[in-house]
Amino acid sequence: MQTTDLIQVDQQHLVFHLHNDKISYLFRVIPEIGQLENYYYGPRIQQPSLDGHLNERELRPGNNLLTGNYTTSLEAIRQEYPVFGTTDFRQGAYAIRYPDGDEITAFKYASYQVTAGYPDLGELPHARYGDETAATLTITLHDENSPLTLQLHYTINTTNALIIRSSTFSNSPQSETTYQLTKALSANLDLPNADYDLIHLHGAWAKEMQIQRQPLMVGRMSIDSDRGASSHQHNPFIALAATNADEQQGQVYGAALLYSGNFLAQVEVDNYAVTRLSLGISPTQFTWQLTPGTSFQTPEVVLSCTTTGLNGMSHEFHDFYRRHLIDQRWADQPKPILINNWEATYFDFNETKLLQLATKAQAVGLDLFVLDDGWFGRRDSDTGSLGNWTVDRHKLPAGLPHLVSAIHQLGLKFGLWFEPEMISTDTPLFQAHPEWRLGHPDKNISHGRNQYVLDFSNPQVVTAIFEQMAAILHSTKIDYIKWDMNRYISEAFSPYLAAQQQGELYHRYIMGVYHLYSLLAQSFPELMIESCAGGGGRFDAGMLYYAPQAWASDDTDAIERLKIQYGASLGYPLQAISSHVSAVPNHQVGRITPLQTRGDVAMFGTFGYELDITKLSEAELAQIKRQIAFVKQQQHLLLTGEFTRLASPFTSNQPAWQVYDRQSGRGLIAAYQILSPANPPYRRLRLQGLDPEQTYQLTRIDAHYQLGQPILVHGDELMNLGIIFSEDYSERTADYWNRPQPHDFASQLFALKAVADLQL
Ligand code: GLA
Repeated sequence: MQTTDLIQVDQQHLVFHLHNDKISYLFRVIPEIGQLENYYYGPRIQQPSLDGHLNERELRPGNNLLTGNYTTSLEAIRQEYPVFGTTDFRQGAYAIRYPDGDEITAFKYASYQVTAGYPDLGELPHARYGDETAATLTITLHDENSPLTLQLHYTINTTNALIIRSSTFSNSPQSETTYQLTKALSANLDLPNADYDLIHLHGAWAKEMQIQRQPLMVGRMSIDSDRGASSHQHNPFIALAATNADEQQGQVYGAALLYSGNFLAQVEVDNYAVTRLSLGISPTQFTWQLTPGTSFQTPEVVLSCTTTGLNGMSHEFHDFYRRHLIDQRWADQPKPILINNWEATYFDFNETKLLQLATKAQAVGLDLFVLDDGWFGRRDSDTGSLGNWTVDRHKLPAGLPHLVSAIHQLGLKFGLWFEPEMISTDTPLFQAHPEWRLGHPDKNISHGRNQYVLDFSNPQVVTAIFEQMAAILHSTKIDYIKWDMNRYISEAFSPYLAAQQQGELYHRYIMGVYHLYSLLAQSFPELMIESCAGGGGRFDAGMLYYAPQAWASDDTDAIERLKIQYGASLGYPLQAISSHVSAVPNHQVGRITPLQTRGDVAMFGTFGYELDITKLSEAELAQIKRQIAFVKQQQHLLLTGEFTRLASPFTSNQPAWQVYDRQSGRGLIAAYQILSPANPPYRRLRLQGLDPEQTYQLTRIDAHYQLGQPILVHGDELMNLGIIFSEDYSERTADYWNRPQPHDFASQLFALKAVADLQL
């Protein structure tokens, strides 16, 4: 499909039709009032009728914009980007305060423009790459009551069932007035019915990405974060699933914000069953001074529409992020399999201990050694030293380059932990610049984990931290950074910003974070960064623009991780979900799970280990070696194949998922058992998304990652009849008393491979 075909404009009726082979998005300008009305967002329609029958104008009581007209009530019109208070009493997408103190806006359609490619939003995360396969429609509206301009951007590409939206507010250079933008969400979608369930991911530290699904109600439902980060509590991703939709079928709208700061996702159902979905920067404590000649750009929202269940939605997000969001230096590339010393040593290590870990890591085939918290300042606990990014000579007397070169000599890459946004009061940085800490100097400033947040809205602070990090990165070859962020912002106040700009703090803060990421990317182009925030406290699509993977949770227990990774996969590709094999008893929940299961869960993500490998038995080391070899062999499939959820750990004792790559015909299936049932019922696992007529080799993978005897089976059988788990004991009835017993927390992998069409 040509990009010029992606956006059709009926110039006479001012109807705009964005479409590709999968979706159509349709809206128009209402001639009488110059406002934008949504007609449709759903599966592709070929040619919308333009004879007016798409107009919905019931006669209803309400306030009307035009005298003598009963059909200009915005309350009764499905709009593109509504405002509260001018005949619409629902929640608006934006709000502007005028010098008189009123908030009465009147933006009217002025013009449109179609451009090739994705808009470049500078350091604000945005869709990118493949401009030849995307087109953007920009609608410009002028405010009748001010010199303000509003631009709505809509991007569509040739392959994905989604559109990308954002908006830009601009104050004319000729203006003499500053206007206050008190709300600026990124997008709004008014749907003509309300038969949906709201699905979102909620949690807390060590239990992120829990899926909640509930029917919409008349009224408002919202999730948000006002913590300065996207948060463990709510993820900036929601879905509206038709009430009958499940993983495999049914209509689903997905909405994700490419942003890592405060957000609001809201769904409002009115009394006519219209569902209003809106998403963007949280309006809490947000006020942007729109001074003459300046603009405010909202983050982008990705809005998907699919009819193939939640998996269908996830496939679109996964594919889109891999191709158009994650930095192409890292996307789909082999990921180093790492060992991290955090759960092995916590703060208690020295060079000898680290080299012992690294030596064992090298022997089992690992690629990257990551030195976590505790290497800098004088940090034996979490009580100080953040902001003093100089090596602790008590722990590493020979210095960091010495350690790093020893690790490089082993043939491993080296990674280092930083928490750049934080400051402890015992540091030279704080002594020199107490005003660089966020908080009001005359009021209480709360600590979180004994630490304070640096004022990243102040460019000087970002530069100073960059210089400290750059000094370390120049001192030796560091291949990887784990960028952590372990507390939220409260009592938000910037000593740097003027009083009237305090409402800009949260957004300026996160832009400062993005700026530091940019500086590092420019100066150290080979450096890969993993994002982390006390586990998954900033696991969002905005971060993925800069850091190709994110530590999903500080909970490393395999059984807990089934839920966390299953939940995360709703909106994020496996290659973004960092997951490690850790020790047993597990440090968060005390559970003892088999090493095989820990590996079989963690490999469905970016794989690594986080345990004291020097304390393992020879048998365990041998098993880890086999595990690593197996993951290396399967890694391309795991990171780039289509991931499909088969059975949910939230509802099933036997969760399962698969990765399948249509092109190569290869797949990997994992079936887990949480608790082992006595005298179990039959178990069959139906696969998804295979070619029904294709012959496949299905191979059970044993506990030592050896392939068993393959069976040949057609795709339709695997999808309909499924993989049979029960054993055939018909010729072995005597085995009743000594048959192998199942156990709790078990896992089973199967490999799938398309083969030439053999006679079955
Ligand atoms: C956070 C991270 C952990 C670890 C510690 C170090 O909790 O999520 O992985 O890095 O900080 O303090």
